[in-house]
Amino acid sequence: QNDDDQLIIDAGQKQFGATMCNSCGMLYSTDSPEDNFQHTQFHQRFLDTIKFVGWKKERVVAEFWDGKIILVLPDDPKYATKKAEDVRRIADSELGFQQVNLSSPRAAKTYLFINSDKMVVGCLVAEPIRQAFRVLAQPERPKDMTKEDFMEHHRAWCCSTVPEKAICGVSRIWVFSLMRRKGIATRLIDTVRGSFMYGSPLSKDEIAFSDPTPDGKLFATKYCGT
Ligand code: ACO
Ligand code: ZN
Repeated sequence: QNDDDQLIIDAGQKQFGATMCNSCGMLYSTDSPEDNFQHTQFHQRFLDTIKFVGWKKERVVAEFWDGKIILVLPDDPKYATKKAEDVRRIADSELGFQQVNLSSPRAAKTYLFINSDKMVVGCLVAEPIRQAFRVLAQPERPKDMTKEDFMEHHRAWCCSTVPEKAICGVSRIWVFSLMRRKGIATRLIDTVRGSFMYGSPLSKDEIAFSDPTPDGKLFATKYCGT
């Protein structure tokens, strides 16, 4: 890249004024009053939601040098289930899920990763299932095809039609944008495998991801080694 190109890029960014807030992770244009307003609206609510004050009774299921994982069950005290639900809402809105309902709320287990700054930076919702359809490897997109066309053509047959036995379905997995690629999702899944069924650790094959996003697929493919 030559210097002229760089100048043009710098000028473009300056004009757009794109900034990423380094506490809430929101990307917005500081030059736009609308964007500034939206950021102000989002910022405090987000930080309040992921703030974790600590509970008298915490079901700690894993501990690490940089945090811990706690498990919240449907019959836990209201303060615990409310925190789990609020964080799940954040994940849902980022995933673009409209409906907040779970398929089996009475059996859902929510795993929260709390970091050393007392913030909930990861959330995983696991539900018991009987079967799942394996996501098949995506074929390469031909050069002359737009991403949208490709997605349209392939959505229908990216999953196997043969049901396979599975025990645990991951219906949501989310990590705070500023904390990604630090192995938090990996540690959440490892912890689910070890604690979902008392006394009997699950193999990678017994875990299924429901309806994964592109990020989710990249992660799942890496995790499962497929
Ligand atoms: N692109 C490419 N590879 C990835 C990505 C990515 N975006 N994310 C994870 N991986 C792969 C990498 O190989 C990574 O190892 P590396 O960092 O050493 O290269 C490996 O997976 C392990 O990644 P983790 O650090 O454990 O994953 P992370 O904590 O960053 O969380 C997650 C991954 C949950 C997908 C996160 O990006 C996220 O919250 N995204 C937005 C929400 C989302 O799309 N969730 C999945 C929805 S699907 C569902 O809920 C069933
Ligand atoms: Zn912010």
